[in-house]
Amino acid sequence: MNKIFAANWKMYLNEQESLDFVSKILSNKHLFLSNKVMIFPSHTAISSVKSALQNLSNIQVGMQDCDIEMSGAVTGSNSINSIFVDSCIVGHSERRTIFKEDEKMIKQKLENSLKTVKSTILCIGETLEEKKQDETFKILDKQLSILPSTLNGKKLIIAYEPVWAIGTGLVASNDYIKEVLSYINNAIKSLYSDEILSNINLFYGGSVNESSVESLSTIPLLDGFLVGSASADFKKFENILKKMR
Ligand code: PGA
Repeated sequence: MNKIFAANWKMYLNEQESLDFVSKILSNKHLFLSNKVMIFPSHTAISSVKSALQNLSNIQVGMQDCDIEMSGAVTGSNSINSIFVDSCIVGHSERRTIFKEDEKMIKQKLENSLKTVKSTILCIGETLEEKKQDETFKILDKQLSILPSTLNGKKLIIAYEPVWAIGTGLVASNDYIKEVLSYINNAIKSLYSDEILSNINLFYGGSVNESSVESLSTIPLLDGFLVGSASADFKKFENILKKMR
């Protein structure tokens, strides 16, 4: 199966820079038509990116986060139905650490997203301290404990992103990722029917770049990647996709 590439642009690109990126996509259509790509611009650029990409409907556009509320008095925040998108990321480690989001909030966001958009990316992963304490699986169990009993036909992507690999240039080893993905796979197998499991994908994220992607893509169980900094630089993202041909 072709790998799926989710580009998390975080707060790297403003609206104009996002549009410049999209115009480079449009001049390299063939590459972007032959790959499964999802783009997560900053909220303020979603609308412009969506309209600039209207002729490339295979590229999904999503939100990097959503509020725990669907509407109301929440100054500066964005609900999952504030704009039409294909997907939403919840539980990213930067939200967990910078915005102090706990499992209860992430569960609410997951529910809001699952009932509103086609696919939701739930990020999970241990910190370096937790890894050193041999607590990886305990942390994953806690982060997976918020999974709902059914997905109502929606797609769920579980992105394993060890926090120590995000933005650090450190990529987890293939063996380590393999072990963790099989743990996650067993956990979801015990929760869901085969029909629901067919709507769940497993991703890896954490310093994925043009040098690591080829070897990472040989990992069994891996359906795709959540790419941060390398996805916000057109040349780097293009090279990642080229490696997959
Ligand atoms: P990175 O970020 O690729 O810059 O490490 C990944 C992520 O945060 O999803």
